[in-house]
Parts: sequence; C-alpha cells; structure tokens
Amino acid sequence: MSTIAEEGLKRALDAEREVARPSNLRASWEALFEEARVCTRCDLYKYATQTVFGEGPLNASIMFVGEQPGDQEDLAGRPFVGPAGALLDEALEKAGIDRSTVYVTNAVKHFKFVAKGKRRIHNKPDAGEISACRWWIEHERELIRPPVTVALGATAARSLIGKTVTISKVRGEPVALDDGSECWVTVHPSSLLRMPDREKRHEARALFVRDLKLIKARAAELSR
Ligand code: URA
Repeated sequence: MSTIAEEGLKRALDAEREVARPSNLRASWEALFEEARVCTRCDLYKYATQTVFGEGPLNASIMFVGEQPGDQEDLAGRPFVGPAGALLDEALEKAGIDRSTVYVTNAVKHFKFVAKGKRRIHNKPDAGEISACRWWIEHERELIRPPVTVALGATAARSLIGKTVTISKVRGEPVALDDGSECWVTVHPSSLLRMPDREKRHEARALFVRDLKLIKARAAELSR
C-alpha cells in the first residue's frame, strides 16, 4: 500500500521518464555500448581483454550493479557469468526474480587483476578508477531509468551514492539517488562464496535472498 506522497513521487518520476527518454532507446544504448568498447578513461583497458558492459532489457525495473568483471567475465565479455554470477543467479531464483527481466552491470567495466603465474587475481578498483567509470553507469541509468538500482557491495554503492557507505548501516532500506529513484545496498555475492563457516554462510545467503525479495516487492510497487 503506498501513501499519497509516494503516489505523487511516482507520478512525477513517470512524467520525467516520459519527457527525458530518447525516442530510440535501443539505438542510444547500442551507441553507448560501442563507445564503451573503446573506453580509455583510465588505464585498466590496457590489461583487460575487453570492456564488459551491462546487459538486460532496457525497460527493466531493477538494475543490479556489481564491482567489476572477474576473470571469466573478462574472457566472455558479459557480467556475472563466473562463480559470483552463479551464486547471484541462485539467489535471484530463490527470491523469485527472473534474471532475464533485470539489467545487470558493473561499476567498473574492465577487469583489474594482479598476474600470479598463469592466474589473474582480482584486484580492487581504486577511487580514481571508480570515478572514471562512473560516466558509463550514469549513462546506463539515464537510458534505462530503473526505479530500483541495487548496489552489490561497497564499490557499487560508492559509485552510485557518491560516497563510502557501511553496508550494514544502509542495508534493507532505500537510499535516494539524485534522480529521485532508489538505491538498495546489499552484499556482493563474492563475499558469500568466501565464507568458510558453513552455518554463517547459510545465514548470510538467506539474508541476501531476503534483501532480493524486498527489492523485488519494492520494484513492483514503484512500477505499478
Ligand atoms: N563480480 C562483479 O562484481 N561483477 C561481475 O561481473 C563478476 C564478478
């Protein structure tokens, strides 16, 4: 049940979406995608295989934002197709969210790694790289205009909200973004892969699914 104020906000957002949406959304997104393929905004393009841009329907009501592509995503050219992606898919399914209906992307579009022999080990993007890459996520959000954007982990939250946030403090409630839409912050699926204690891991995964269920309900409410 939404309040009168929420209804008013929703109508205002809908009106704004209508006015500002380009007439050929698909062509605009494809132009952005092509531009991102040759991005040199920071040095990460020099070492990665390719830009890993977002994917999913352009009318999605939920946009998921991860940190950066991992080893497998870098090779495949698609976000969340490796182990973290498998965990995300499993959690989405448990929450009743069909991945094919959501847009999935990353705060940073190139894989940052340290080479150790033949292995490429994930290396966290720094503030400069997150900031340089914000240009892309802002344009993706401008085109897609999801009522709900989900920050998976601290890097995505920093990119979307513009400052460092503590996940446990903002989890489970929306943070208003500049365009009036909502950002929901939750954990990164990789953090759930790394937990050695079985019981704690189960608990953390259940909390992640709980977050996704809340997010699903909120997106449905805002899209009505
Ligand atoms: N981790 C991320 O943050 N994004 C991906 O696409 C894969 C792993």
